[in-house]
Amino acid sequence: GSVVITPSLGNLEIQNNWLIGVDNQGLISHSDIATSTISQELIHSVSSSKGSYSDLVNLPPGSFLLPTFCDLHLHAPQFLYRGTGLDLPLLEWLKKHAFSAESKLDADPALAKRVYETLARRLGECGTGTVLLFGTIGIETNLILAEAMQSAGIRAFIGKVSMDTFSPSNYTENSAPEALDNAREFLGQFECRFSSLCPSERRVEPVITPRFVPTCTDELLDGLGQLAQNGSGDGKILRVQSHMAESHDVMEYVPQTRGGLSDLEIFDQRRLLTPQTVQAHCTYVQPQTQFSLLHERGTAIAHCPLSNAYFSSAQPFPLRQCLDANVKVGLGTDIAGGYSLDITNSMRSAVMVSRMWEAMRAAKEDGGTTSKNPRPINWKEALYLATKGGYEALGLPNFGTFIVGTPFDAQQIQLFDKALGSGTGPLDFFGDELDQEINEEMVEKWWSVGDQRNRLAVWVQGTTLYRGPA
Ligand code: GUN
Ligand code: FE
Repeated sequence: GSVVITPSLGNLEIQNNWLIGVDNQGLISHSDIATSTISQELIHSVSSSKGSYSDLVNLPPGSFLLPTFCDLHLHAPQFLYRGTGLDLPLLEWLKKHAFSAESKLDADPALAKRVYETLARRLGECGTGTVLLFGTIGIETNLILAEAMQSAGIRAFIGKVSMDTFSPSNYTENSAPEALDNAREFLGQFECRFSSLCPSERRVEPVITPRFVPTCTDELLDGLGQLAQNGSGDGKILRVQSHMAESHDVMEYVPQTRGGLSDLEIFDQRRLLTPQTVQAHCTYVQPQTQFSLLHERGTAIAHCPLSNAYFSSAQPFPLRQCLDANVKVGLGTDIAGGYSLDITNSMRSAVMVSRMWEAMRAAKEDGGTTSKNPRPINWKEALYLATKGGYEALGLPNFGTFIVGTPFDAQQIQLFDKALGSGTGPLDFFGDELDQEINEEMVEKWWSVGDQRNRLAVWVQGTTLYRGPA
């Protein structure tokens, strides 16, 4: 069938009549035009039951394969109340809504299981196959989260939240040593629970997760930095995630309480800006000086345009300047700071915010009210950020391109049903598209107005995660 990928920022590749082979580990073992000699031999061997492949699937006309989406920032426990209570500044919102929801799940494992299993199912419906998750403080609750993702088949990187200050008394760790013990205990129990799975079966990994600077003492950040650098015992740095330079109130609060330092400087001093780190937001990072530091450190950014619109105040994230500096960037939903679990909404918001910000930035630079020089991101760039950009940020190179040797992580999108002679879901076509192969205009139309009704299937590492309505 047809395959759509974004091999690099801004480049869209459409291959019609493509053949992908998937082996019994869920890895791509063949990826080539279906008319090539070797593809033809492979097709023949399946139809005559002679080769090692057991089945041949033809994608119908009007549909295509796309890599699964990667959500780089999502608070799993906040799924409990997503879509409510977004009327406060960040630091007040955390105290009123986030901490209470999280402590509720830590106190009620049955509720946590229900919330996390529902979250996993909804992620599948949204085409999200890989996700970087914040959990709660509690160790057991995060193991429930990991079990829910593993059983659903979602590739998930899961952080037990570390926080030892500026937190309510019923939802905090009482000292840095206690928080560090908990972080180590979580890593240990995680390995205990999942290390018996072979690599092709295992979908979940732990992540060191200082919540953000205001809730972490220097001693805790220092210890987590050391744990990240030395924790695996085999010389590999462990994964880290946090929030950085997110909002107006945090930008004020941190220097006031930390001797004038910014959260970027503090994370860097504590060796928490690593090639294995993903920092959410970074809205207030200085484009001229600090993007180059993030590039040097190899640290990635989870851009969350929807939640930024609520918490960042006047400053939008300077996405183009960030991409120009070659910082790794992907997209996040930031449930529940953002209300939508669907990465297509992050893609669309990213373009919208970028257009408005670039128009303002360029006009200001030109000294007027309009300018011919804005450089907003376009839909193809947003699609890259939602797929390959996210995988690069997680250090999963070549994921999102259907290259041989990578896992078959894919979603099947249907634009129209040729047999019915009509568009599918919200898509309507009035021209001769129904007789054509997939082209760029059709993919753009899906990007703009498609929804879950256009998603027929989702696979992660060859295993079906979701089957849609057709
Ligand atoms: N900063 C620290 N914690 C949070 C959180 O839960 N959500 C968001 N958006 N920002 C945070
Ligand atoms: Fe967040």
